[in-house]
Amino acid sequence: MNPAAIDRAVQALRSARRVAVLTGAGVSAESGLRTFRGATAPDSPPDMAALWKEFDPMRLATPQAFEADPAMVTRWYDWRRLGCLAAEPNAGHMALARLERWTLSRDGAAFTLLTQNVDRLHQRAGSKAVVELHGSIIEWRCTKSGRRTLPPTQPFTQFPPPSQWGGLLRPDVVWFGEMLPEDALRRAEEAAGACDVFLTVGTSAVVWPAAGYIHRARATGATTIEVNPDQTAASDAVDIVLRGTSAAVLPAIVAALLE
Ligand code: OAD
Repeated sequence: MNPAAIDRAVQALRSARRVAVLTGAGVSAESGLRTFRGATAPDSPPDMAALWKEFDPMRLATPQAFEADPAMVTRWYDWRRLGCLAAEPNAGHMALARLERWTLSRDGAAFTLLTQNVDRLHQRAGSKAVVELHGSIIEWRCTKSGRRTLPPTQPFTQFPPPSQWGGLLRPDVVWFGEMLPEDALRRAEEAAGACDVFLTVGTSAVVWPAAGYIHRARATGATTIEVNPDQTAASDAVDIVLRGTSAAVLPAIVAALLE
């Protein structure tokens, strides 16, 4: 960790009134959840390999894949759902919840946490203003009525799971080729277009429109900060790069803010 870079990030946050954060799968890596394409550390166990290195997203994460084989797709998402339910928020999630409270304790402040994660760990850590850009795997929805439901914490017993409203149940996530929820897009646009600091954490910044919010914030004059152990597609575009894991770097930032 680079203390001078941490200090610059802390100064930027101290003078900011409006803060926006974008998170990706890396934030949940230290909770034991696998990233999609992030580099796997040489010493990480084989069962932590990035998901899209082991599984083909075109056969699992598209409307066409669900139509072709709803049993396989829902079985895979149920496996991931149970993994998310079993995981606990880590120090990085906790620090972001504290950063929200610290920011909002000041006059005229605004805070928005845009997440690409579907695991609900930010909410479980206490974050309030969370915008789920890619939906949630914890809730499922009926293919016929569109109604959402919170399935029990046990595995489904039938694949694809039948819905009580006459259709099938599918995870309430955004698949490749689908639109992001309108409300999430609106809130993300608003936050990225009017923030003083934009913090991007644990994302490879290759999936749009999420990655575009970093550039949008930069174009509107925000100080942009990246927390990631590795180089990403956004690294060269941000003002401050903090190389390290979110569970190490974020608590250090919050501790310095609270000093
Ligand atoms: P990726 O898997 O593409 O990227 C994860 C990022 O986290 C990489 O840049 C890693 O270097 C970084 N990382 C790994 N461990 C970390 C740690 N402990 N602390 C901080 N960073 C760490 O995941 P996303 O960028 O979230 O979409 O992927 C975006 C979207 O692509 C996902 O929401 C998903 C996927 O396809 C859909 O399923 C629609």
